[in-house]
Amino acid sequence: MIELCNSTDVVEGEILRRDVEGFPAVALTRHEGQIFVFPDTCPHAEESLSEGWVEDGRVVCGVHFAEFELGSGEVHNRPAGCPNLTFFTCEDRDGKVFARLKEEA
Ligand code: FES
Repeated sequence: MIELCNSTDVVEGEILRRDVEGFPAVALTRHEGQIFVFPDTCPHAEESLSEGWVEDGRVVCGVHFAEFELGSGEVHNRPAGCPNLTFFTCEDRDGKVFARLKEEA
């Protein structure tokens, strides 16, 4: 697993972007105390999800207003061809957030 940041950096309702060498950028958020890690780039286009926001337990794309459910990744209000969002396995270990990222293809 790769260390991303301190757990306290991940604030309820906000999206934090992290650039990790050798991997596509990732985004983190916290909802009801739980941390979620997902690709910063939307699965259907090149928009950055960290420039969107979190609302009602969903990550919202600030460009197309697609909404991805935190946890399941199920997409609502999708633009054509937009699949569900995939979340990375993550852990809060001794005050640090770690995630199992996928290497760049
Ligand atoms: S870039 Fe995919 S929903 Fe906006």
